[in-house]
Formats: sequence, C-alpha cells, structure tokens
Amino acid sequence: MTTLKKALSDNAKAVSGVLDDLLPLGNGPESRVVEAMRYTTLAGGKRIRPFMVTASADLFNVDPAHSLRVAAAIEMVHSYSLIHDDLPAMDNDDLRRGKPTCHIKFDEATAILAGDALLTKAFEVLADDETHGDPTVRMELVSALSKASGAAGMVGGQMLDLFAEDHDLKMPEITRLQRMKTGALIAVSCEAGAILGKASENARHVLHAYAHDVGLAFQIADDLLDVEGDEKALGKKTGKDAAAGKATFVSLLGVERAREQASLLAEQAASHLEIFAEKGKLLKELAQFVVNRSA
Ligand code: IPE
Ligand code: IPE
Ligand code: MG
Ligand code: MG
Ligand code: MG
Repeated sequence: MTTLKKALSDNAKAVSGVLDDLLPLGNGPESRVVEAMRYTTLAGGKRIRPFMVTASADLFNVDPAHSLRVAAAIEMVHSYSLIHDDLPAMDNDDLRRGKPTCHIKFDEATAILAGDALLTKAFEVLADDETHGDPTVRMELVSALSKASGAAGMVGGQMLDLFAEDHDLKMPEITRLQRMKTGALIAVSCEAGAILGKASENARHVLHAYAHDVGLAFQIADDLLDVEGDEKALGKKTGKDAAAGKATFVSLLGVERAREQASLLAEQAASHLEIFAEKGKLLKELAQFVVNRSA
C-alpha cells in the first residue's frame, strides 16, 4: 500500500470513530432520524474532505483531536448533501456508497430530516470548545463552513445543477457551477486546516489555490466516472448525467480532453504546495489520486 493510501485509510477509520461518537443513537421514537444520519454517514465513502482537513492541519502541527472533529463536521455536511442530492426531487438515485440510498432505506421525509440534522449537527460540533479552545478560531470555522455550504456555495451549485438540466450551459457557466457545487466544500476543507493552525495569509492563499484546482479536478473525475466508471466499484449508479441531459465537462469537452484537463489541474494543484516542501507531499499526491481514482 502506498503511503497516501495508508494515510487515507487510517484517517478514514479515525474520522468514522469520531462520527460514531458524535452521533449516538437515542432511545425515543425520534431516534429513527439518528439511525438515518448514521446509516449514510457511517456507510463508508472515500473521506477525501476529512483527509484534506487533517492533512492541511498537519502542515501547521494542529492537534489531531481538534482537526478530526472539524473533519467529521465537514463530512456531516457532505453526507447531508448526498442524502438530499439522491432524493426523487433531485437526482432520484437508489444506490449510494454501495447501499440503498437513505430515502429508499427509510423514507423521503426521514431522509430530508436526516440531512437537516446532519447539517445543524456539524455547526454544533464546530461551536463546541472541544473543537478548539480559542472562540475566534471556532467562529472562523463556523463562518467559513456556512458560506461554503450555503447559497453562495454548495447549495447554490446544486441549484445551478438543476438549472443545467434544461438550459444549455457553456464552459464558463459549468466551471462556476462545479466550483460552487463541489469546489466550495473541498476548498473549506483545506481552509479549515489553515484556520485551526492560525496559518499566515500566504499559507492560506496557497492552500486555497490548491483546493480550487483539486475541487475542479475532482468534479471532472466524478463526471468521467459517471460515463465510464464501474457501478460496483463506485457504489452508485452511472450514466445519470447523460440520462438527465446534464451538461458536464465531459459532455462539453469529450472524454479525452476532460481527462487531460483534470490531469493538468492536478499538476497545477500540486505545484502550489512548493512552500511546504516535504510536508506537502501527501496533499500533492492526493491531487493525483483524485483524478486517477476508479471509485
Ligand atoms: C460525491 O462525492 C459527490 C460529489 C461532490 C461529486 P464523493 O465522491 O467524495 O463521495 P464519497 O464521500 O466518497 O461517497
Ligand atoms: C453532487 O453531485 C454534489 C453534491 C453537492 C452532493 P453529483 O450529483 O454529480 O454527485 P453524485 O454523482 O450523485 O455522487
Ligand atoms: Mg446531483
Ligand atoms: Mg447525484
Ligand atoms: Mg456525479
């Protein structure tokens, strides 16, 4: 196993442990919503965003007890976005992370509520002093994650994604859509590491540039996998974008050029990290991993 694969797998285990602790099952009948939250959140997933949080935080020697809580909070927002993305009103998918989607396993109302509660839980975690002793750091984290998740970030991107089903979007608009839909949560994952580490303006800037490129590359890879990926390996259905008539990088550029573009972005992403020298190695490798992945 490569060093990166091992680091990803160790981090995924640690994050799952923290998520498990943060989402205890209750006793009353309302605990059905917690069951649904746990069902999707603990079902696996590559845990790329949590890895970005802890790897970025490691650049500044942040205590992993802090960075893992932030990693778990961002994974909660990501899991909520997947639960809602799969609903009949959106992508209407029945397979996620190798299992029936949340609304299929439970029901639509429960899936909506599980998403809502994961989103709010994430902010509860960030606001807790166990996440960081300095209230200014906690406030910066809350502010950054709320901006990245909301109408100017992921949710706005999802709105544009629905719009893309019946409008003919061109490259600049698709790029903006993808930056909001996927890029914003990826960017805040790296930014969170810098916030926790009280990093210099320059280091923040560099990490932002890195995350910006990785975010786009990540979504191009997702669109490529939708066309040519293996459902079993991915744990989700493929061919959905074309069936929905969605313009993506792949539909606009074709498979070959989209792949080239993703590769260029990964190289560019890695080149931003030179200032971190050897310490930036894992994040550099992650940029390549994101575009070469088969799941
Ligand atoms: C899928 O994200 C949704 C997108 C933003 C493209 P991931 O590919 O990171 O999904 P998991 O977390 O591994 O399941
Ligand atoms: C979803 O994008 C991005 C989110 C914000 C959840 P997709 O709809 O392309 O993600 P998949 O392919 O279903 O994982
Ligand atoms: Mg979608
Ligand atoms: Mg989808
Ligand atoms: Mg997709």
